[in-house]
Amino acid sequence: MSERRILVTSALPYANGPIHLGHLVEYIQTDIWVRFQRLRGNRCIYVCADDTHGTAIMIRARKESRTEEEVIAQSQQEHERDFADFQIRFDNYGSTHSDENRQLCGQIWESIQSAGLVKTKDVEQLYDVAEQTFLADRFVRGTCPQCGSPDQPGDNCSQCGITYSPIDLVDPVSTLSGSTPEVRTAEHLFIELEQLHPFLREWTQNGQHLQAEVANYLKGHFLGSTEDPDGIKTLRDWDISRPAPYFGFEIPDSPGNFWYVWFDAPIGYIASTQQWCDRNGESLDDWWRSEECEIHHFIGKDITYFHTLFWPGMLKTAGLQLPEKVHIHGFLTVDGEKMSKSKGTFIKAETYFRHLDPSALRYFYASKLGPKLDDIDLNLDEFVSKVNSDLVNKVVNLASRSAKFIKDVGLSPVYPPDGGLFERAAQAGDSIAEAYESCDYNRAMRLIMALADEANPFVEQAEPWNLKKDPEKSGELQDVCTVAINLFRQLVIYLAPVLPDLVAKTNELLGDSIDHWDQSKTPLLGTSIAKFKHMMKRIDQKDIDKMVDETRAEQTEELSDSDSQDGQEQFHDGPEALAAEPLAEECTIEDFMKVDLRVARVIEAEHVPEARKLLKLKLSLGGDETRTVFAGIKAAYEPEKLVGRLVVMVANLKPRQMKFGLSEGMVCASGTGGAEVFLLGLDDGAVPGQRVH
Ligand code: 2FM
Ligand code: ZN
Repeated sequence: MSERRILVTSALPYANGPIHLGHLVEYIQTDIWVRFQRLRGNRCIYVCADDTHGTAIMIRARKESRTEEEVIAQSQQEHERDFADFQIRFDNYGSTHSDENRQLCGQIWESIQSAGLVKTKDVEQLYDVAEQTFLADRFVRGTCPQCGSPDQPGDNCSQCGITYSPIDLVDPVSTLSGSTPEVRTAEHLFIELEQLHPFLREWTQNGQHLQAEVANYLKGHFLGSTEDPDGIKTLRDWDISRPAPYFGFEIPDSPGNFWYVWFDAPIGYIASTQQWCDRNGESLDDWWRSEECEIHHFIGKDITYFHTLFWPGMLKTAGLQLPEKVHIHGFLTVDGEKMSKSKGTFIKAETYFRHLDPSALRYFYASKLGPKLDDIDLNLDEFVSKVNSDLVNKVVNLASRSAKFIKDVGLSPVYPPDGGLFERAAQAGDSIAEAYESCDYNRAMRLIMALADEANPFVEQAEPWNLKKDPEKSGELQDVCTVAINLFRQLVIYLAPVLPDLVAKTNELLGDSIDHWDQSKTPLLGTSIAKFKHMMKRIDQKDIDKMVDETRAEQTEELSDSDSQDGQEQFHDGPEALAAEPLAEECTIEDFMKVDLRVARVIEAEHVPEARKLLKLKLSLGGDETRTVFAGIKAAYEPEKLVGRLVVMVANLKPRQMKFGLSEGMVCASGTGGAEVFLLGLDDGAVPGQRVH
């Protein structure tokens, strides 16, 4: 097969924060794929950039009395350092705040204008009066208007995937000042995505550009089904501009308005390619306007919509090459939970790097990553045992137990009998390659470790350390070690996309250069061997503990910094609330269990005109089970904002006939009454009908 021309990207990290272990899932996944493609002899370039625009940087620059350019320059330098530390090797690492990007944005904008896709509309946007700025989506959090999940970002819901405008959020809060933002009107530019509906249906549903679950999700949530005429959905217009003040590119034909960061960010992929082309005397058209080029984007599932609907729509309109594939991965959890600063699991790349070997993380992630969108868990105990057992005990051990015995004589000139081990491992190459190609690294690692499991008993049975004691067995010793070293080298070739550092050390040991997959088919013979140097250190639990402690300490430091901007936990709770209502008399567990507390969803909420304090709520306990409850929360909650949210109700309270109807329970809340009432919420995952213990 002839060489493929492949352009690969990872999502552009925001210039506003450090690279952490969650980010690294994607960059490591992509870097492995790129290295694999090159090892197979394909032409592959990997570009990325910092995503620099938006309100976040603007606010940070203001707070730090620096220019935005100063902030993004520092960030870029830190990101590039972290990527290099983890052996993530880009061909070009650009910035969305570049001349190339400004120019490309202008060109693509013109195409979109000429295609008649742009219209203007007045938009009500949330405005933070204290900070004197319109609020970018990511500075607003609130309850999802569709599924009722609390504390969702301003642009799309991490639980049900719907995209919305922050103004649609229930109970919005500005994360800049903690205040409730007010609504203001400004004229915005929109792209009418619906005009591209037929194209997007075709592109997303045919041609294997997306993982099956992603294509189905888009069909179900946004595009609708052609088989069911009632099921066709309308794609919402995409709000593409933001009024000043905004850090970004001003729209040439709309002074005072700036392209929204999500317009210019993906164009950053092209701008970064442009910089690489300029440096290497290449033509951008060969990469972005050629059917010969395969474009592969790697992204996280949270930005699916942008990359599978908006971005292909923009590319199509501008006559640019569409992605061959958008590879979407899940999120990282640490020890089974969302990364958390206070638990010490919100681990920055630089903190990890101070204590542990990047190769270990690369291998661990590879062993967890599959072709689907499942989240991957970094269980720290499993991390230690897996890396030590697979890489140190099974792989490196093959070399460390044999290389030293043939330092003076080198490898045998003819490949000795090995019971078919080398041949079997050579044949496994195709399946391993397929697994890499389809991003099923977990399978690739299992296949490789199965080979290591066959190789090790060979060395154990041959006992080179005993052969060494008998001078008459020096030929046998050389043969045994030649086999062991060649089996080791095959494993290193297969692991090369994941472990570039091990490749470098192996090359040094064998005086060889591993640079093509097919080298796994031919043994290395008759060459000398260098002195064995240490290849990989066992992970010590103490280093993990230090990393976690340091991460916790970083959080404490951030909290004590009064300029800390993202409203993180600060605990200054006074004694007044408890004093106002002292603890009740002790009760037994049996007493408590008499009260049947249940999770319920508010499915209807309305004012009771005759009642000053009450709202009438219809609560669902799941299935067909509903209860009507009159709750004294009128001053604190607007009924329409309650619909969809989960509450805790007393489900076995004796029904009470009220003037307005029968009340069949009670919702739980704290507070002193009136506007000071706070309904109990539930963490994600709770479902109506569950008992609360
Ligand atoms: O979600 C993010 O982190 C964005 N900065 C990704 C941008 S990817 C691309 F479209 F630019
Ligand atoms: Zn939702």
